[in-house]
Amino acid sequence: MKVTIDGQEIDVEPGTTILQAARMIGGEVVPPAMCYYSKLKGSGGKCRCCLVEVSKGSDADPRPMPKLVASCVTGCMDGMEVNSSASPRVEEARKSVTEFLLINHPLDCPVCDQAGECDLQNLSFQHGKSQTRFIEEKRTFEPEDIGEHIQLHMNRCILCQRCVQVADQLCDGRVHGVMNRGDHAQISTYITNAIDNEFSGNMIDVCPVGALTDKTFRFKSRVWFNKPYNAHRNCDKCCGKTTVWMFGDEIQRVTARKDEYHEVEDFICNTCRFDKKDVKDWVIEGPRKFEKFSVINRNKYALNAPKVEIKTEDQILLGRKEDQKKISMVKVPLNNTNGNSNS
Ligand code: SF4
Ligand code: FES
Repeated sequence: MKVTIDGQEIDVEPGTTILQAARMIGGEVVPPAMCYYSKLKGSGGKCRCCLVEVSKGSDADPRPMPKLVASCVTGCMDGMEVNSSASPRVEEARKSVTEFLLINHPLDCPVCDQAGECDLQNLSFQHGKSQTRFIEEKRTFEPEDIGEHIQLHMNRCILCQRCVQVADQLCDGRVHGVMNRGDHAQISTYITNAIDNEFSGNMIDVCPVGALTDKTFRFKSRVWFNKPYNAHRNCDKCCGKTTVWMFGDEIQRVTARKDEYHEVEDFICNTCRFDKKDVKDWVIEGPRKFEKFSVINRNKYALNAPKVEIKTEDQILLGRKEDQKKISMVKVPLNNTNGNSNS
């Protein structure tokens, strides 16, 4: 079947969605996706970020589709013509969806661990407005402890349901899901159960925002200060292929490897993710490639920079000493009104 997206034609197999066809073309034509996840069955159709305009339905029925369609759940037809980023209607719709997603999302980026690799942050950067029209109070939830490894910030959740699909498809014994409906809908565990399953950590990786974050990495570093390396180890529970996020010679975080669409290549187990933070646990393969649209792909590895060895604690202490000197202003001559001087 032939399908044309933003003037670029491609041959696809029957059953291919418009989003998948766009990804095969790559570049600007690829719609953003906040809920679709190629590795999770049944994902997509919830966030409406991936709307596109179908200007010709197919060769058999060339009528345009009257409304914009979600590209992640709409199949290609032979002869279909689609406008993605080339369409002003689509651009306007993406702006509206972004505004809608941000209605209840807190402006937590300065303190959120996901900042720098957050899909919503990247979406807002591309399609967001700098003002808000929302004058009502944002929806908030009581903090909830869902276990020793994962931090839930329900206020940040966009209800994409990817984490629920991870629980359904990767974990045996699912204990969490979407509770309630409408604007009361929230991710929660059944009867305050803790999420404790060998593959539950993958919920952190699939969460597009900072609603599920790694408790072992919380507030340790901004992600752009870390150097990500691909690494592997022999693991009897998962593929053992990960990305280790290093600060100096410390491993501060372990995640699954992600592709250019920020999607996990192979899911990993909690032992690799949470318990193996020693460099000796890993065979370090080399710097990882970056997914597109991310703050962290800005300054790494394009330059052949030498490896920097930093002892975190020493550097922090030294930094604090320097800060203290500056704050106490010992070098600044001070003449106060009593005639005393510290110079
Ligand atoms: S917690 Fe994250 S992955 Fe789960 S529904 Fe909310 S935004 Fe999606
Ligand atoms: S990615 Fe298509 S609706 Fe969310």
